[in-house]
Amino acid sequence: MKLVFLGGSLRPASLNRRLLQHLARQAEARGHFIQCFVGEDLRLPLYEDDLPTPAVVLRMAEAFREAQGAVIVSPEYNAGIPGHLKNAVDWLSVQKPSPWTGLPVLLAAASPGAFGGSRGLMTWRATLANLGAWGAPGALTIPRAHEALDAEGAPVEARYAQEALRVLEGFLESAARLDRG
Ligand SMILES: Cc1cc2nc3c(=O)[nH]c(=O)nc-3n(C[C@H](O)[C@H](O)[C@H](O)COP(=O)(O)O)c2cc1C
Repeated sequence: MKLVFLGGSLRPASLNRRLLQHLARQAEARGHFIQCFVGEDLRLPLYEDDLPTPAVVLRMAEAFREAQGAVIVSPEYNAGIPGHLKNAVDWLSVQKPSPWTGLPVLLAAASPGAFGGSRGLMTWRATLANLGAWGAPGALTIPRAHEALDAEGAPVEARYAQEALRVLEGFLESAARLDRG
């Protein structure tokens, strides 16, 4: 399948970006074609009707349209979606045809806090529903992520590493069954 990965913060040391890269490597190792949009790709002008669409948004929209699934790995800011990611979603949402319609999406989050970014994922679910995307019922959250993830973004403890793969593989099976393409 073709899969898109979106997320992380703008920090070079982003824990969420590290987790995203781990999940992307795992999906790639299972034979899927991966496109990641992270870091500088997400440094977009604030959405405004009269602005020309940035080239990276056009590329992102095309990748999302072609994808059978998306994985979003999002920091939680004040129990919600960080501005740079919401802005990227808003830019994508006005592209025609909408890249979101019927798209299976797996949500994941990492946080140094005790809740692993799970509250932010609730706000993502409301946004995905509004976009007409298919939010996978399962999700992956990594609490205490500054200690729980290694330098490559893999969970240090074996049981969490297995859980991450179980959630990812479950999503890939669902996306294949939904076969958006
Ligand atoms: C403006 C702001 C708001 C934050 N709000 C939350 C929050 O509501 N819940 C939480 O778990 N962490 C919160 N954090 C801490 C982030 O989870 C932490 O900075 C994390 O490392 C961000 O993800 P990153 O490592 O991918 O940059 C907040 C951080 C910032 C800068």
